[in-house]
Amino acid sequence: MRLKDKVAVITGAGSGLGRGTARIFAKEGAKVVVADLNFDSAKETCNQINMEGNEAIAVRVDVSNPDDVQEMFNRALEHFGKVDILFNNAGVPMSSLQIEEVSDELFDRIMNVNVKGVFLGCKYVAPIFKKQGSGGVIINTASIAALRPRPGQNVYAASKSAVITLTKSLAVEMAHEKVRVVAINPVAADTPMLQGFIGDRDEQEARKTYTASIPLGRMAQPEDIAYAAVYLASEEASLVTGTVLDVDGGRGV
Ligand SMILES: NC(=O)c1ccc[n+]([C@@H]2O[C@H](COP(=O)([O-])OP(=O)(O)OC[C@H]3O[C@@H](n4cnc5c(N)ncnc54)[C@H](O)[C@@H]3O)[C@@H](O)[C@H]2O)c1
Repeated sequence: MRLKDKVAVITGAGSGLGRGTARIFAKEGAKVVVADLNFDSAKETCNQINMEGNEAIAVRVDVSNPDDVQEMFNRALEHFGKVDILFNNAGVPMSSLQIEEVSDELFDRIMNVNVKGVFLGCKYVAPIFKKQGSGGVIINTASIAALRPRPGQNVYAASKSAVITLTKSLAVEMAHEKVRVVAINPVAADTPMLQGFIGDRDEQEARKTYTASIPLGRMAQPEDIAYAAVYLASEEASLVTGTVLDVDGGRGV
């Protein structure tokens, strides 16, 4: 029960790393706001949490839309009365593309979700944390691709670099409010997003290539990221801010 009685808002919690984290946060005692663009999948995560005897509500949000993000926090406050933890996890991938093949529309979509989405989450939770006066934790999902980009991941990797720098900037900006801001760099993870990175390539070959580039010899599973997030969100990490934790099997070394 490392997150007992904490209220956590998790974006992109209808799938993959977000869903895994939502379930493990709930097992650790948190009440969870499961937020996702796909409301049906958010409800499914919620059902799974409820069936395990824990508390969660589903909220539909487009993290790139300011009104949606504000409404997500309104729902959290109405239902649970406070917000202690924000996990800005929603994101979109890109398949391998040479820079001249990247359309302006794709650039805007990746930046809108991966960067503006994180910005809006931080922007709208900040006044809530200040008003509550008891600190708070923001965890942002970046990627090891920000530090070790693979060929063709150009804009995606750049979007995650922006997340890392925003994390560090806000860590120093919000420290006096006792708000900690941290990030996680997952390595290639076995989630529905993986197909988005693989694109037209042969799936088995692509999986082999990913795995071969990870010293510990396997891709990430949702639990790997979830337990890193539990630690970062918990009191055990009370002196940890501005930190970017690689959960990458050694790929970033
Ligand atoms: N899977 C990987 O290999 C990998 C590696 C490194 C980092 N990441 C990052 O981890 C995070 C989670 O990825 P995942 O693997 O769980 O992906 P996923 O595709 O399984 O889940 C992402 C979720 O985000 C939601 N989403 C997408 N756009 C949204 C929006 N505008 N508003 C709200 N929700 C939206 C989707 O509906 C989906 O449920 C992302 O930020 C991703 O960039 C993933």
